[in-house]
Amino acid sequence: MSVYQATASAPVNIACIKYWGKRDTKLILPTNSSLSVTLDQDHLRSTTTSRADPSFKQDRLWLNGKEEDIKDGGRLATCIAELRRLRREVEKKEGKPKISEYPVHIASYNNFPTAAGLASSASGFAALVASLAALYELPATPSELSLIARQGSGSACRSLFGGFVSWEMGSKADGSDSFAVEVAPRSHWPNLHALICVVSDDKKGTSSTSGMQRTVETSTLLQHRIKEVVPERMRAISDAIKARDFPAFARITMADSNQFHAVALDTEPPIFYMNDVSRAIIALIVEYNRASVTAGGSIKAAYTFDAGPNAVIYAPEENIKEIVQLIVSYFPQAQPFNDVFGLFRGNQPQGSLPVGFNESVTKKFDAGAVKAFIHTRVGDGPRVLDSEETLLNAEGLPT
Ligand code: DP6
Repeated sequence: MSVYQATASAPVNIACIKYWGKRDTKLILPTNSSLSVTLDQDHLRSTTTSRADPSFKQDRLWLNGKEEDIKDGGRLATCIAELRRLRREVEKKEGKPKISEYPVHIASYNNFPTAAGLASSASGFAALVASLAALYELPATPSELSLIARQGSGSACRSLFGGFVSWEMGSKADGSDSFAVEVAPRSHWPNLHALICVVSDDKKGTSSTSGMQRTVETSTLLQHRIKEVVPERMRAISDAIKARDFPAFARITMADSNQFHAVALDTEPPIFYMNDVSRAIIALIVEYNRASVTAGGSIKAAYTFDAGPNAVIYAPEENIKEIVQLIVSYFPQAQPFNDVFGLFRGNQPQGSLPVGFNESVTKKFDAGAVKAFIHTRVGDGPRVLDSEETLLNAEGLPT
């Protein structure tokens, strides 16, 4: 008897132009377009195995080994139902086996700890959609699959592509024109690297889903952002990416992170995602760029923050070593630097400041305020993996 199963992995993406606000909460249609960089799944990824089998009693899903409830009408159920619908079309048209009638078991695993405070919903839903699309042998393009991933989590639609990706907000009420498109592949600008600074945080923050809904309901600044700011920025950052113009890319990325946090603050009651450590990292990057420009150089790094205190710093590869040395000068490391690119040749980074850097821009913090670094770079889109990579055992339970 045939086993109907597929395994796929999908990357994390970090937005430069932020998605924040829905015009339709059920279909997950945004109030503005957004644009992100896909990070390398050699470092950060979600992997998902899906199997369809007539002996299964019902659809079931495990995340990192723990079973999750697939609620009727919920986001997971919607994504699975949409992919089944596409499979039924294939079965009708091409006479393929009717595996859409079988329940599915789905096991998903993130290779980064949830405790790292990195959002996993984008890579998670992208991997889920990619694995079911492979299981069902759907003839769908990444943009078509992004329509489905979007209904799992808005930002997930951008993880269906590698490189530089925009989510076009669309205007139709049914959401059929709200999908992701590739702005440029990773090969266009492979030396764009990312340094994630994992910031320690004990308090439970406001989730993206509820935070952005409150912003839509109460922020007047959001209306200005949607109408006047984002459309122009989407054009300008696409041009900057096409021209590999890092200073322009960096200026827009930092401005849009700032404005996203400004609309969070403009929400009633106000939402604060950044903390003192986040703000100190901003001060360091601003001073780093100022010192470079003053010395006749150009902008060398860009910060961006999502709905939490972690910083993501985008920079050309050749600047990352200097940036790590700068940050460890203010944030002594509590755990060894995972030097995946061999920047420090087997040694641990030592603090040092670039020439002309004004040391007093921020105070020095105690060890562990920045818990860890993750050094990665622009990466590729979802991958279909070999059957040896399965996350389900012979009984269809997580391995
Ligand atoms: C700040 O995609 O997590 O990361 O659609 O409700 O699941 P839902 O929200 P989500 O929001 C992401 C918000 C952000 C900005 C971004 O990724 O564009």
